[in-house]
Order: sequence, then C-alpha cells, then structure tokens
Amino acid sequence: MIYVRDNFFSLKTKNTEYQLYADKYGVLQHIWYGKRVDTNMSYLLNYPDVGFAGNIYEAGNDRTYSLNTLPLEYPCKGTGDYRISAVSVSHSDGSTALDLRFKEYKITKGKYSITGLPAVYANESEADTLEITLQDTSSDVRVILRYGVLYELDIITRSAIIINGGCGKIRINNAASLCLDIPDEKLEWLHFHGRHSMERITERSPLIHGIQESSSTRGTSSHQQNPSVILCSPDCTEENGSCIGAFFVYSGSFRTQIELDQLNQTRLIIGINPELFSWTLNPGETFETPEAVMTYSGNGFSKLSHSFHKVIREHICRGNYKLSERPVLLNNWEATYFDFDADKILRIAKQASEIGVDMLVLDDGWFGKRDNDCSGLGDWFVNEEKLKGSLHNLAEKINKLGMRFGLWFEPEMISEDSRLYREHSDWAIKIPGRDPMRGRYQLVLDMSRKDVQDYLYDSISAILRSADISYLKWDMNRSISDWYSSLLTAEKQGELPHRYVLGLYALLERLTSDFPDVLFEGCSGGGGRFDAGMLYYCPQIWCSDDTDAFERTVIQYGTSFIYPISAVGSHVSIVPNHQTGRITPIESRAVTAMAGSFGYELDPSQLTDNEKSAVSEQINRFKKYRKLIHGGKYYRLSDPMNGYTSVWEFISEDGSEILVQGMVFRTEPNMNRKSIKLRGLDPDFVFESDGESYKGSALLEGGILLPQTWGDYAPVEIYLRKKG
Ligand code: GLA
Repeated sequence: MIYVRDNFFSLKTKNTEYQLYADKYGVLQHIWYGKRVDTNMSYLLNYPDVGFAGNIYEAGNDRTYSLNTLPLEYPCKGTGDYRISAVSVSHSDGSTALDLRFKEYKITKGKYSITGLPAVYANESEADTLEITLQDTSSDVRVILRYGVLYELDIITRSAIIINGGCGKIRINNAASLCLDIPDEKLEWLHFHGRHSMERITERSPLIHGIQESSSTRGTSSHQQNPSVILCSPDCTEENGSCIGAFFVYSGSFRTQIELDQLNQTRLIIGINPELFSWTLNPGETFETPEAVMTYSGNGFSKLSHSFHKVIREHICRGNYKLSERPVLLNNWEATYFDFDADKILRIAKQASEIGVDMLVLDDGWFGKRDNDCSGLGDWFVNEEKLKGSLHNLAEKINKLGMRFGLWFEPEMISEDSRLYREHSDWAIKIPGRDPMRGRYQLVLDMSRKDVQDYLYDSISAILRSADISYLKWDMNRSISDWYSSLLTAEKQGELPHRYVLGLYALLERLTSDFPDVLFEGCSGGGGRFDAGMLYYCPQIWCSDDTDAFERTVIQYGTSFIYPISAVGSHVSIVPNHQTGRITPIESRAVTAMAGSFGYELDPSQLTDNEKSAVSEQINRFKKYRKLIHGGKYYRLSDPMNGYTSVWEFISEDGSEILVQGMVFRTEPNMNRKSIKLRGLDPDFVFESDGESYKGSALLEGGILLPQTWGDYAPVEIYLRKKG
C-alpha cells in the first residue's frame, strides 16, 4: 500500500513502513524504514548546524540546512554531501555535479519490471509501484526512483532510471540501486564472505566510523563476497531484535558500502560496482539499474530470512520447476572427473537407478576434445567416440533405466585449444597487444556480442533438441579480467562488464523460455555466482564445490540467511571427502544434503552394500520430506561456527509437521543428551515423535533432546507430527 499526502510518501507492508518526504526545497529526504507505525515520523528530522557541512544556495544564511547531514534518498556527488553517493555523472562540459530535486510521482498497481534484467515479479493484487522523478537543478538529467511494495511479504524493491533529457552526451560514473539512510548510531552488519569451496561464511561486526564494504570486481557476484547484507541492532538474535536486509538481483560485479558518518548516522548503498562501470547516455537515452530487494524484521533474523526465502522462491524463481518437486540427481563429476566413457556412465546409471535416483547428470568432458580442463570449451558438439555413439542413444539408454538425463555446459568460456578459438579468437575477452590472464587455462567469451550469444544459443539448443535432456548445469569457472570488446568504441569500453551480464541474461532468457521443461541449475565453481539474478533463470544453484558435510553446514548456514532451501544444490559424496579428506558418516552427509535440492556426487559401485541400502532409504526419506523441506519455513536452531552442533528445523505452513535435522560435531565420553529449542510452532499443538508426545509450548521452551551420539559428526533427524 502506498499513501501520499503533501509530498510525504508512506510505503506500507503488513509489518513494515518506509517513509519519504520531498521538503520545501524539493530535496527527497528519507524519514523511516522499520516497524509499521502508521504515523508520520518526520518529527525525527533535525537540522543541526555542523561545521564544514555546507548549505544549499536557496537556504541563504541558514546554516542548519545541509545536504551533508540530512538523510537523503538518492544522494549525488559533487554538491556538498561528502558521504558515499548513489549517483554520479559527467556532463558534456566535463563537470560532475548533480543536485536532484523532486519533480513528480506516479503510483501504479502491480510491480514494475526492468528492461533486460531480472527482477521481482508480482501481480496487481500482490504489489504496488511508486515512481518518483527527480530533476537536476541545472541540467536535463532526470532520475526516476522506483519502489515495488509487496504487502504480504514485507518486501520493498528498488531500482533507478537515469535519463539524459538534454542535448549533450553525459557519462554515468555510478548509478546505485539502493540507498538507505538510517539515523541509528549503534548497528552491526552481517555479510557473507569466503573463497572457492568455502562460500558464504557469516561474519558479523559492529560498524566503524568511515566506510566498510563488501564487493566484487570479478565480473561475477563471486565466491569471495555475496551481494547481500544485513544491518542489525547489537542485541539482534534469530528471534529478537531488529534488522534490515538487502540483496542485489544481479550476477556481475557489485558493491555494498556502509558509511557510519560524523553524526553517527548510517548510510547503506548497493549497486553495480562503479570501479568497473561507466555508461554513455546520448540525448534521450536512459539507463536502468538492476534491482535491490529489502526487508525489515522486528523479530530477528528468522523473520528476515522467511521474507527473503518467500520472495525469491515465489517472486524471482520462475518456470516449471519453481515450486514443483526437484529430481534427486546423481552427478558423475566426483565419481569419474574427466575419466569416463559411455560404458562407465551406463554402469553408474544402472546402479543409480537401482538405488532410486531420478536423474543422471553427465558433467564436464562429453564434448569436443575435453579429456582435461586445458581444451575444448566452446566446442559444444558431442564427442561420439567417448560416448560410443550419439547423445540421443545414451539418453535413451538412461531413460530406459527409468531415469531422466541431464548435461553440463560452461557456455561463457572458450579454450584456446578449441575449434571455436581457431575460428573466432576475437570472440574472447582480451586487450589487443596484451597477453590475457588465463583462469583454469581458459578465456572468457565476450557475452555482450550478439554473434556470440547466437552461436551459444544455436549450439546449446541443437544439443538440447538432439536428445531427451531434462536438466542443464550452467557452469562458469573463472573470474573475468582484461576487459575489452572489439565491437565497442573506446568511449564505451567501460560498459562491457555490465553488457556482459545483460548478454548472459539475454541468452538465458531465450534458452529458458524455449526449453521450459529443462531444469537449469546455476554453478560457478560451486557457489561463485550464487545470487538472485541467476535464480531468476535457474531455480537452483550448486552451492559449493565443497561436498564435505561438516564444511557444508557452515556454507549452507550462511546461504540460508538470504536464499531459500530449494535454491541450494547439495549432494552426498564419498569419504574421505575429496576437498578436505574428512570422514563423516553417510547419514550425516545425507541430512546435510537434504537441506537443499538433494542428490549424489559419487560412483555407487564404491559404496558397500550397507551404504547402498542406506542411500535407497535416504532417497525415500527425502522424497517423503521434500515438500516440507522446500515449501516449509526454515529455522536455524544453532550456529555451526559457535558450539559443536549444527541443527536446523523445517516446519510446514500449517504447523502440523516438523523436521529437525543436523549434526553433532563432537561426542564426548560420559556426556548427557543436550536439548534444542524448536521454533515457529503453535504452543497449543501436541506433537508426536517415536511414540512420545510433546506439547508445542514444551518444545518451544524446553526443547527436544538430541540423540545420544557416537563418534564425530553424528547425524540428527527428528520428525514430529501434530497429533489428532
Ligand atoms: C566446476 C563445478 C563442478 C564441476 C566442474 C567440471 O568446478 O563446480 O561441479 O562441474 O566444474 O569441470
């Protein structure tokens, strides 16, 4: 719901409220984002006279009106606000100042969309849109700020449009998607950092004066930092305290900055990373920023995660697989790496079908000349020698075993040792006269080029049409450098990183709409591009190349703050684990992998008979719980980085079913059984588990006993059902 009165705007959701105000000078001030208050909070605005905080010209001798101290909605560079800014342009005369003032607004039913970019979608009964137009005081640059308000979900989305309404060229140097000024002086921030095979480690720290940032300059959202952030009160826990979260619906280089200023006010800005961005706007042209999505919770992190899980699962993910049951798949990568032929794959497939797997996924190495990672990328034609015939035949044999068939691609890449490179070396991103940086021996295709997109569309769709293929793993295995496109003029080279992302999205849009029955799973060396932009095309993403169950609890814990469980590709592999050498029980590997889109990454012939029957039983259990796991609410019951358990809970929408899973990392001798408090359930319901009855209030206040464990990394699984 959006209310407007005398240039005061209130965006209300079920539990939250966002307020803005265009003041007497037309400056758009931010008043409030927090709990729904149903009253104008502008009495909180105050106008201190602060030294070295300059004053706008119209204020005359009034030293109290300063852009450097006010909470601003979309702060500009060059006109006296010395904090981090949301927008910066170079005018045709080379000057870089902007001073945006309120011009007009528009409210519409439904949710705006963004040209060529993924965004939250919602129908007219689910969302409203507010557009506020700002105009520079001295040029014809305009900015439209767009807000999508999803009432039930407590979600507000943001995006901006920069318009060159003048007759000279301008260059955009920075155009953020979200700016949020918060008066609170005591905040902490959570962000998710990591590295390859160890993504989204949660880090929480108090804000320090000055700027703190998490960002990527890799051309992708990256393993190292995730495009998402949470600001919270120091007392914020899973259930109590207030927090604001934001994630970016974008898969390229991003920047999240937070500045704690001289008056202890906080400013959060999220957008495309300006370090690798510039965009020329000719007269009449416009630029649309990607979307940022926000929520506020007055009830701790659980509520924040629930809002984000729902908006991503139901309003960002699309396609036939959005809410439908995901297949249990077996991927051959850790089973064979590059060392396979059709016989080996069929042997694995036969055993996989015997243990109840739904789909066999053939990973890297089935195409071109690709027996290791030094060659073949770009040559998307089947290596029939290796497959001992056509892909059609192989898929048919797998189908006959009662399983569907899936295939790995890494479309954005090119190996120098490939037919494609020999024919089109100019399609690789590299700077003339400079040796390009290689990553995993490979170069990156210039995805901004239409001919490159067309080649990839044609070759991938030919493969998809040639056989019964139900799944496509879309991988991307290096960071990008040496930005240069031979099709762009010198002036436009700074546009390439964003044009790359637009090209990637255009290709994904074509393929996902032309092949609606194919399940697309994103991947970038595991979770190097785990973001809401990719989730718009691929409803699940391979969460990490680390399949070690213990490390996965840490990775999936961090991932769960923002992203829904169904988005998390997660598989059981053999032990000793290939990434860490750690040995964990197969049951612990299974419960960890079940907190995601479940599957296996192993050769079943390496399993003992006992393990094989355990696997069959796990698959049955996952199928039984799949709806509860993907469609229910998820609660983090313990922090794997703090203590020696990692336990989580799924509860069905109607509250009648609860599944508690996890792991106790360490067993001590003579140890009593620990209890863990459940959450989100009705205190008056009575639940039953293993013949015991428990009242909801008891489970909430006293908890449930974890099993007596034996050995390290012991599994936890408790299923409770409402009685009666
Ligand atoms: C990446 C992926 C793996 C696997 C390999 C294949 O590392 O994350 O799952 O597909 O590439 O080369």
